[in-house]
Amino acid sequence: MRPRRLRATPAVRRLVGETDVAARHLVLPVFVREGLSAPQPIASMPGVGQHSLDSARALAARAAGAGLGGIMLFGVPSMRDAVGSGATDPEGILNVATRAVVAEVGDSLVVQTDLCLDEFTDHGHCGVLDAQGRVDNDASLERYAVMAIAQAEAGSQLLGLSGMMDGQTRVVRDALDAAGFTATATLAYSAKFASAFYGPFRDAVESALQGDRRTYQLDPGNGREGVREAALDIEEGADIVMVKPALPYLDVLRRVADISPVPVWAYMVSGEYAMIAAAAQHGWIDGDRAQLEALTSLRRAGADAILSYAALDLAEKGILS
Ligand code: PBG
Repeated sequence: MRPRRLRATPAVRRLVGETDVAARHLVLPVFVREGLSAPQPIASMPGVGQHSLDSARALAARAAGAGLGGIMLFGVPSMRDAVGSGATDPEGILNVATRAVVAEVGDSLVVQTDLCLDEFTDHGHCGVLDAQGRVDNDASLERYAVMAIAQAEAGSQLLGLSGMMDGQTRVVRDALDAAGFTATATLAYSAKFASAFYGPFRDAVESALQGDRRTYQLDPGNGREGVREAALDIEEGADIVMVKPALPYLDVLRRVADISPVPVWAYMVSGEYAMIAAAAQHGWIDGDRAQLEALTSLRRAGADAILSYAALDLAEKGILS
């Protein structure tokens, strides 16, 4: 047996390749900051910045031109309060940015929004707090329902349910349907782990989290619980389920992909991006090859699509399939 026969030339390697990463498989996360007039770099995410409304529109147009599957918008508000009022205000930065981006790109790619309160609350949690300062699941769900309608009205086509509150998929689905938004889809961040790899994201959205998220995000050791969360979201009507972060959770991704009747996505998060980008800046690693290898591994492990901060760069360099 000589398996090397099928590795001998670029042509045969291309013919027998099992896994592709194409631009259509990738979604670019984009941060839009209220009150900015020009893009601003994020120190902990080399090559990624906070955008103004205008630069976000331009970036979305580039993403569409490069053939990406979608963009995921995050809002960075200038004012925060206990209930995250900016999240549900039609004039809040995320909703304004969504309208601007949809006006720019139409449906040449899927415009998606982060549906979570943490960017908008002064305490930095993904929900509202009760009198004891604990994250109140059901009170948070009421806020998510209002936020979902605001995002759907702004034109978001896919709502990213990233708060990890119990029942969020069902509550958002019911609210959308009751308001006539039956065509607006949901992406459930089902297996979202309490991760150190979200570090640079906190810089990107300037959130100062009080405490941690361990009462709602998953313990990194709990794979079975991740599969259970995905099963619950599917039952509650999620159109797509996701595993996040990505590389440290390839096994969870595989297990979810094995049982899911709906598409399964992975989110290669800020810290995963930053590790590769920082090493590349030092000349210690080939950044493009490492990003592509990571994305390939995620596709191999069962991801139908991937959120990646490197998406546009890789697509524009022409190194995807
Ligand atoms: C919640 C949200 C977070 C990320 C995406 N959506 C932060 C968190 O849960 O702490 C992190 C993404 C990343 O690190 O790239 N709004």
